[in-house]
Amino acid sequence: MTTETIMTHAASVLLIPGDGVGLEVVPAAADVLAALAPDLVFSRADAGWNCYQHYGNALPEQTLERARHSDAIIFGATQSPSGGAPGYASPILSLRKELGLYANLRPARNLPSATQVFDLLIVRENSEGLYAGREHPITDGYVGERVVTGSASQRIAEVACEQAFRHAERTGADPHLTVVHKANVLKKSDGLFRSKCLEIATKYPGLKVDELLVDTAAMWLAKDPGRFGVIVTTNLFGDILSDLTAGLAGGLGLAPSANICASSPALFEPVHGSAPDIAGQGKANPLATLRSVVMLLRYLNRPDMADRLDTAIETVLRSGSLTPDLGGNASTAEVTEVIKKLVLT
Ligand code: NAI
Ligand code: MG
Repeated sequence: MTTETIMTHAASVLLIPGDGVGLEVVPAAADVLAALAPDLVFSRADAGWNCYQHYGNALPEQTLERARHSDAIIFGATQSPSGGAPGYASPILSLRKELGLYANLRPARNLPSATQVFDLLIVRENSEGLYAGREHPITDGYVGERVVTGSASQRIAEVACEQAFRHAERTGADPHLTVVHKANVLKKSDGLFRSKCLEIATKYPGLKVDELLVDTAAMWLAKDPGRFGVIVTTNLFGDILSDLTAGLAGGLGLAPSANICASSPALFEPVHGSAPDIAGQGKANPLATLRSVVMLLRYLNRPDMADRLDTAIETVLRSGSLTPDLGGNASTAEVTEVIKKLVLT
């Protein structure tokens, strides 16, 4: 399992902007990516709440087909109505499921100006847990089933162990994996996740392995995020802890992610949602999506371009124009232009 693929043809990138700020940050990121890698072939497809209202389907079959046949996907965000709507299912959950994207990589590192120094990666199991979609009625309410299988635990543990070595290579630290679970209460399900992760980790000589209960992990992440390298955890815990690390790293406007597996095109997306409170105002931070593009460039085996974009983002964070979520007053378009100029010089 690797996040790097050797391309022998012009790589195709499918853009699925979705709703809200997705419609602003995905075109911005595509603009920079096209400037950096003019040989990439772009196409665009619909998904989300707007799409559902127009066509009665949040994830049309045509979008899925295009996704399957692209080399990589950039997804913005979609809006899900609270309480749901008839036949509406979250397109990102459906895409992850349909494409078999079982591993969600969510890196976070400190802002250049921060006093706390950290550089960590959350590897979130993406296919089961409480997101298995199994809710059924009981007499006075509902039961949501939390699915944990040995095979899914094993494959996410393998991704996490490999990522721990890559992470160590990049940061210069020793390979370090922390297994995060709640096996003291969820004895069977998280007991299985824990034991599979620890068992797989023994096959990787040189990997330092430890474990934390999820509540304790949240405390340590807030207090001393620098003690972590790679964290592997189940679906909901990974979702929550990665918003915590996004907060530590400067906010959702900066947090990138990749959804990967060996047999499908990878999907890159900001961790944030459609941000209806700021959508349409031209002030969404494009850096979370641009950082996801850095991950995409590494996946497409273009490390030099990835480094150039990463450095441009760091330069902007250190000295440049910032959007309001980071305390500045620059627009999405202004930040995008600055980054574009930086990567082209
Ligand atoms: P959100 O991530 O959309 O927004 C949370 C806060 O972060 C808001 O104050 C927003 O203004 C800010 N924020 C988010 N992205 C930003 C950016 N690029 N620049 C500056 N500030 C940014 O989460 P929320 O409000 O809980 O959810 C809104 C909608 O998004 C919901 O319908 C939810 O279901 C959906 N959602 C979709 C996701 C996806 O498609 N992958 C992921 C998370 C939420
Ligand atoms: Mg989330």
